[in-house]
Amino acid sequence: MRMWNDFLAPYKQAVVELKVKLKGLRHQYKLEDLHAPVEFVTGRVKPLASIYDKTLEKNIPFEPSPELAAEVPDIAGLRIMCQFVDDIGSVVGMLRQRNDLKIVEERDYISNKKQSGYRSYHIIIEYPVETIHGEKTILAEIQIRTLAMNFWASIEHSLNYKYQGELPDVIRQRLEGAAEAAFRLDEEMSLIRDEIHEAQSYFSSFKETEKRDIQDTSWKGEPE
Ligand code: GTP
Ligand code: MG
Repeated sequence: MRMWNDFLAPYKQAVVELKVKLKGLRHQYKLEDLHAPVEFVTGRVKPLASIYDKTLEKNIPFEPSPELAAEVPDIAGLRIMCQFVDDIGSVVGMLRQRNDLKIVEERDYISNKKQSGYRSYHIIIEYPVETIHGEKTILAEIQIRTLAMNFWASIEHSLNYKYQGELPDVIRQRLEGAAEAAFRLDEEMSLIRDEIHEAQSYFSSFKETEKRDIQDTSWKGEPE
């Protein structure tokens, strides 16, 4: 057990650090009165039981090892929830620019949704953790999704847990329908968002014109 605790320690540290950093983004946007593309952030270290299941699935020994670290890239997992689909691109763009992590893989399950109906943008990163024995670079997975995608995924996950992965057909169909509905909700919200932006830019350009008109009526190059 001591070995597992030692092995998992940098992953725990990474989850704590990344949660603080990613949540911090939200505050930075709010400070500048900008729309924050990050709604909320969660993180977890994969429970040993789930790591065990993964080793069975991947047919690798269940022991703390570089092989396990490489084969299970989501021992440290972060989730970033966004209001709008477009926010996901903004978040990915921000992550690509950061100097404190390195993206090693991107999987777009939004353009290519999974068979189950699952949608999310997945990024695997290399992240350096400072330990008392020097720097230790670990892998972590960041899932970026809208609130609707998250709602669907959490329900689907619970149902899969309940039925141990053997969903009855009727439930599977319902879930497919629900995934479709979640997709449409995201689309509708995007349209509303564009509306809001349009209204705002119309309003600000109206104000600009108004200001110019006022300026135009003032004296120009003539003595007061
Ligand atoms: P696993 O899906 O964990 O076997 O790993 P993988 O190598 O196939 O990676 P993938 O990118 O497909 O999925 C990684 C993670 O995404 C999972 O651990 C889940 O958190 C999430 N995920 C992937 N597919 C689904 C799905 O169909 N439903 C739900 N609820 N989550 C999923
Ligand atoms: Mg998978």
